[in-house]
Amino acid sequence: MILVLGAGGMLGKDVLRAFGSAATGLTRAQCDIADPTQMAQLGMGELGRPNWIINCAAYTKVDLAEQEKQAAYEANALGPSYLSSAAADLSARVIHISTDFVFDGEKTSPYVENDETNPMNEYGRTKLAGERNIASAIVLRTSWLFGAEGPCFPKTMIRVASSGKPLRVVADQIGCPTYTEDLAQTIVQAIDANLPDGIYHATGSEPMSWFDFAKRSVAAYGISEADISPIRTEDWPTPAARPKYSVLSNEKLQAAGIPQMPNLDSALQRFTDRLKQSEPSA
Ligand SMILES: NC(=O)c1ccc[n+]([C@@H]2O[C@H](COP(=O)([O-])OP(=O)(O)OC[C@H]3O[C@@H](n4cnc5c(N)ncnc54)[C@H](OP(=O)(O)O)[C@@H]3O)[C@@H](O)[C@H]2O)c1
Repeated sequence: MILVLGAGGMLGKDVLRAFGSAATGLTRAQCDIADPTQMAQLGMGELGRPNWIINCAAYTKVDLAEQEKQAAYEANALGPSYLSSAAADLSARVIHISTDFVFDGEKTSPYVENDETNPMNEYGRTKLAGERNIASAIVLRTSWLFGAEGPCFPKTMIRVASSGKPLRVVADQIGCPTYTEDLAQTIVQAIDANLPDGIYHATGSEPMSWFDFAKRSVAAYGISEADISPIRTEDWPTPAARPKYSVLSNEKLQAAGIPQMPNLDSALQRFTDRLKQSEPSA
């Protein structure tokens, strides 16, 4: 049995969807990863013992984490250590999701797994602590997630552009957008391949700016006349600093036999199709 934690989140929902009846999900209300008592009881209830535990649960409010340091630390740093102990007791393998925000963005070529980490914000620091607190797991660092099941950047761009309002979007931060449906498939493939424990980078393959991602998203939705202009990071101040460059090399994952995710056109096509299907017809 495959157990998905954080099953109510954007990635968690797509992971559950990818596994179908092979997986069971627990939402935050059903299992709080920051609660050591609940975590110690994992696998003891009627659900049965999992062979794999996929941790999609995290405190993900990057800007708010600058204030809510304790809450972010409990979910992102302590949660993985409780998970690690629970999985060891159950002899279950773990897939844990981490982030490009463990890096400071000073590199100009894709980050590899053993590059030096240096998070620029509280969220990144708590996620890095989580990586270190997981004793043995497949840790997948991903970036710029978007999905049909959660609030995300391309949804916001499409909503604003659809209303005809102008958009000003940061053009000097570079990263790789990653579709949750495709990351979920990578997780399926990692389990099928019985991937060895370790840190792996798992992202979409196309580096771009938020500005370019906004243009690609609205075009994929079929909006041809969007008013989108590029701005600099300093023109859009945020409480949490973000890396200027956080492209992650996926070569280690590919060398282990896991294919590169489909390209962004394919991802955006499937994403916008799902959005349109979920919208009430006019
Ligand atoms: N989104 C991105 O751009 C991005 C980029 C890189 C890496 N990641 C990583 O990808 C993973 C999935 O993120 P996502 O985008 O799917 O985020 P998400 O939509 O915010 O999902 C996270 C889920 O975790 C739940 N959660 C929070 N604290 C919890 C706790 N203590 N116990 C159990 N569940 C808890 C949340 O519930 P509530 O909503 O009720 O709090 C939410 O359902 C996370 O590890 C994140 O750090 C995300």
